[in-house]
Amino acid sequence: MREQDFIPGEYQKPVQSGKVTWQSPSNIALVKYWGKKENQIPANPSVSFTLEKCRTITTLEFQKKETRGEAFDFELFFEGKKKDDFKPKVEKFFERIEKYSPFLKDYKLIIQTENTFPHSSGIASSASGMSALALCVMSLQKELYPDLTEDFFLKKASFLARLGSGSACRSIEGELIEWGKHASLAGSSDLFGIKYPYKVHEIFKTYQDSILLVDKGQKQVSSSLGHNLMHGHPFAGARFEQAHANLEKLQAVFETGNLGEFIKIVESEALSLHAMMMSSEPYFILMKPNTLKIINKIWEYREATGVPVCFTLDAGANVHVLYPEKNKVEVLEFIKNELVAYCEKGQYICDNIGKGAEKL
Ligand code: PMV
Repeated sequence: MREQDFIPGEYQKPVQSGKVTWQSPSNIALVKYWGKKENQIPANPSVSFTLEKCRTITTLEFQKKETRGEAFDFELFFEGKKKDDFKPKVEKFFERIEKYSPFLKDYKLIIQTENTFPHSSGIASSASGMSALALCVMSLQKELYPDLTEDFFLKKASFLARLGSGSACRSIEGELIEWGKHASLAGSSDLFGIKYPYKVHEIFKTYQDSILLVDKGQKQVSSSLGHNLMHGHPFAGARFEQAHANLEKLQAVFETGNLGEFIKIVESEALSLHAMMMSSEPYFILMKPNTLKIINKIWEYREATGVPVCFTLDAGANVHVLYPEKNKVEVLEFIKNELVAYCEKGQYICDNIGKGAEKL
């Protein structure tokens, strides 16, 4: 599919008003997206587990205007309260998707949104937030164009979400989602995420993600700034090749369930992401001392017990602890006994791999 395929023609049906609600999850990348080209095209392909419990719930109300507006006309509520400081982000999203969703300016929109996880947890809400909003926009499009197929609906929702926040395109469906053109992945595209197209061993469908909240503060580096640091980065070329190679290696791992290899690739990806930040200009260290303490504890525990638990990181200090469900009891015990002490206010969130967004 090409970008032009997402530009709609004349309305098929008039729609006066309506309301739609979607809930959409966050996701955690195994091969990281870091670096982008123009129009939110990724510099390298990535793959993620869709999560289940960390979600954004968004309602879009639409009321046809008498005359089409010059500007977008919308109000935004977060957890029931008017939230004008979120408006510029949404405005920018609408501007980016206007070409593909021109009907938005024909409506007065009211957006109500809330997260299932605490706003100040240091967990990025952009993936769940942008995917939920993109799905609401697609539901409005579906009313105007009833012939849309389910497949097109989901692809375009991912395409729109990507224009809001790159990683958001991996939050529409589950359980394992790939985004970005890769020579050995049939159907892969820079424009939207796809369900990982090959065999996935049952063990991965049981994966748990316990998110240890090491630092609940605001992100030190916004992801748009972070991606930009890859332009002219001395290691950029090697990093993008590494991501391609890791995705290729993961194909056999996903098929066979080789957790030893899985752990090596996933932890290396997390550390490579942070290595890129440490070696950019300007440079950043986003890990905190407690992030390193947790990583070392996980290594010691794995070495001593043989339990296949590993970590990954986002562009921040929090640690995602990944493990199969069959090891849940002992890993949760380990987290409580040995890792909680390194979390801010002892807080962590237990999530697991999920099936994607749902219309409510
Ligand atoms: O979607 P963005 O622009 O916030 O970028 C997210 C980048 C990482 O979370 C660090 C990695 C990833 O692939 O999700």
